[in-house]
Amino acid sequence: MAEYTIKVRRYQPDGEDVPRGPYWQEFEVELDPTLSVLDGLLQARDRDDGSLAVRCSCRAAICGSCGVKVNGQSTLACLTQIGEAHERANRMNGNGEVTGGDSEQGELSPAGGNPIVIEPMGNMPVLKDLVVDMESTHWEKMRRVTPWLLDDGDPPERERIVEPEAMVDITQTIACIQCGACVSACLSMEADPDFIGPAALAKAYRFVGDPRDVETRERLYDLAQDPHGIYDCTHCFSCVDACPKGVAPMDQIMRLRRAAGEEKINDRNNGHRHEIAFTKIIRKKGTLDEAELLQESYAAGVGGKLKPSKRAIVGLAQSMPTAVRGIKSGKMRSIPKLIPGVHHKLPGDAQEHVQRIYEHAEEHKTELNLYITGEEEILENAQGDEPPEAAETGAPDDRMGGGAGSLPRTDLVGGGAPGTQATDGVPTDRTELVDEGGARPTDQADREDEER
Ligand code: SF4
Ligand code: SF4
Ligand code: FES
Repeated sequence: MAEYTIKVRRYQPDGEDVPRGPYWQEFEVELDPTLSVLDGLLQARDRDDGSLAVRCSCRAAICGSCGVKVNGQSTLACLTQIGEAHERANRMNGNGEVTGGDSEQGELSPAGGNPIVIEPMGNMPVLKDLVVDMESTHWEKMRRVTPWLLDDGDPPERERIVEPEAMVDITQTIACIQCGACVSACLSMEADPDFIGPAALAKAYRFVGDPRDVETRERLYDLAQDPHGIYDCTHCFSCVDACPKGVAPMDQIMRLRRAAGEEKINDRNNGHRHEIAFTKIIRKKGTLDEAELLQESYAAGVGGKLKPSKRAIVGLAQSMPTAVRGIKSGKMRSIPKLIPGVHHKLPGDAQEHVQRIYEHAEEHKTELNLYITGEEEILENAQGDEPPEAAETGAPDDRMGGGAGSLPRTDLVGGGAPGTQATDGVPTDRTELVDEGGARPTDQADREDEER
């Protein structure tokens, strides 16, 4: 047993004997270090203050109801060992950053030191203490992505048969337990509360990747054209770090983007063209030529010269204030580099190395997917260049669908199912780099956008 201090951010919406609004309260708890932060909260509630509001149910990382922030990190309270949380708290400085220290070597810090700070999840309104309103943010956005299968025609007599391999691609998203930790951690949502967000977009991929769904293109078009959709993600990895089930929502968003690109959907946010321009420039120069990026994003690759459409002129004009802010703030330090073409290529053969990375990526279009195989199997498969047996790849194990407990990260970095192809023509192999050839609108709506 060890003693810990937990510092809880509390909020009483209509209390009479306690301060209104948020305030901090510390509790002393006594627990084995291997027990969880949730156990600490429940002990504090039982022994010290029965009014402390905590939401929980399974206490085994299955139900997804105990999402909180522990020492600033969005996570599940039942999945965070109190001893580890204490060590981390002791390594944190006044700015909430983790610093070095003895405890980093694995030695348990003595009780005392910094308290373990526990707060309600972010990006969602607080109802009371550690209980947030998931309906107004999380569930509303979940409904936004039509989280059910849209199938075709009358239901079959028994069931729609799907090849097990075709479902491999979506096992990762199926593992979501709807805890909201990724929503809490999302930086884009903090800046744009209308962003559909990581959990709902991961759910969207669950149906985009399902070969039985018949509205794949419509789903992708909708999510790409929404200004708060797939191109609103800033690729910050916070949701990947926060997710207790290894769903890696950001990866699912990138899959949605790739799928939208494969469908030649040109979004009104210019996100797809921007990605193409980005990869094209890095391939050509090795580092990012910001000036060319702007030009290429709006009027792609016409011999280094602008060939602006009406829409491109508007887009370029709208980007000017951002460019001016970049210069003023010092982010864009080299004024000459703002002239397209001035930015140099990498010296020596470094540029060839970059190009070889592109070639390698194009030759090895291997989808890394969690819940499939372990690392050894990845290596074996990579060497043998043979797809793993269906029994090894497709069989769900107890990690799927929110199995109990957590797994070490190394176990979660899963193997590939190279060449896995879904039925109904839905490709599952989507690590392909964005096509350099430029996107062409393929439907009337895209053409209208282009003309505008
Ligand atoms: S990677 Fe995208 S979705 Fe995930 S937290 Fe960052 S901005 Fe949000
Ligand atoms: S994606 Fe992960 S963090 Fe987000 S709701 Fe699902 S399980 Fe929780
Ligand atoms: S109580 Fe933590 S996930 Fe169920």
